[in-house]
Amino acid sequence: MSNLSVNHLLGIKNITTTDIKLILETAKNFKEVINRPIKKVPSLRDITVANLFFENSTRTRLSFELAQKRLSADVINFSASSSSVKKGETLIDTVNNILAMKVDMIVMRHSSAGAAEFLSRKVNAKIVNAGDGAHEHPTQALLDAFSMQEKLGDLKGRKIAIIGDILHSRVALSNIFCLQKLGAEVKVCGPTTLIPKYIEALGVKVESDLRKTLEWCDVANMLRIQLERQDIKFFPSIREYTMMYGLNKTMLDSLSKKIVIMHPGPINRGVEITSDVADSDQSIILDQVENGVAVRMAVMFLLAGRQ
Ligand code: CP
Repeated sequence: MSNLSVNHLLGIKNITTTDIKLILETAKNFKEVINRPIKKVPSLRDITVANLFFENSTRTRLSFELAQKRLSADVINFSASSSSVKKGETLIDTVNNILAMKVDMIVMRHSSAGAAEFLSRKVNAKIVNAGDGAHEHPTQALLDAFSMQEKLGDLKGRKIAIIGDILHSRVALSNIFCLQKLGAEVKVCGPTTLIPKYIEALGVKVESDLRKTLEWCDVANMLRIQLERQDIKFFPSIREYTMMYGLNKTMLDSLSKKIVIMHPGPINRGVEITSDVADSDQSIILDQVENGVAVRMAVMFLLAGRQ
């Protein structure tokens, strides 16, 4: 069996195209497993995984936990809001206390960019980044690529648009690295204030017009406006944002071809996307969630297999 080139999954930037393809191929097998009547395999028996969530999550936390249980791992969950972090304990002290309980792998979400990488240099466990600030969200990009491949086949030459708040989005950055490594073209679209200045240097096209972007792409990945990361105003009001960059059914139906609609969640219905688009037959939003379990099983299985 092939191996990953890394001991930790910290981001997509530092893994190879071969790593990505190995994870996506392995996830296909796990998707088949989780659709069987008996969904559990013993692959991670005797492995203990701690899920450390220093920031809110619904999909990622539940998806990792379910993936761990399907792989027969022992699982402990930690949420910063109900922990001694509130009493001033540092990240390293928190993690070392958890590791003293003989934990083999840590899945961590943190509001600081680089937190997972920092941890990987300090502790002796496999680290999986479940989202670090506005930096990377590697398993989201992998599940997005898996979902696109299921719908479109090989992504080489495919045109993928990422629309909305690119500036604050770890999903955007990880998707850009992942899609480019798989040979897709990426365009970002949104208000100029929410497009980072460095983005073109990554080989990404930039467009401010939503209709032109939608006419160009095979897939539109609609992102949420991350008000919680915005300390200043980046656009006049939510209403105006929706008028310029919200996708509704009238616009979707007026395009010259049928495109695939994605969203990493959580959705702000009626802001970046209307309910009739989110729930339409062109949307694969719930497929993304289903595929997240298989992709995360693949990531943890492959990391656990590395010595
Ligand atoms: N897509 C995503 O990361 O969702 P959560 O914040 O709910 O985990």
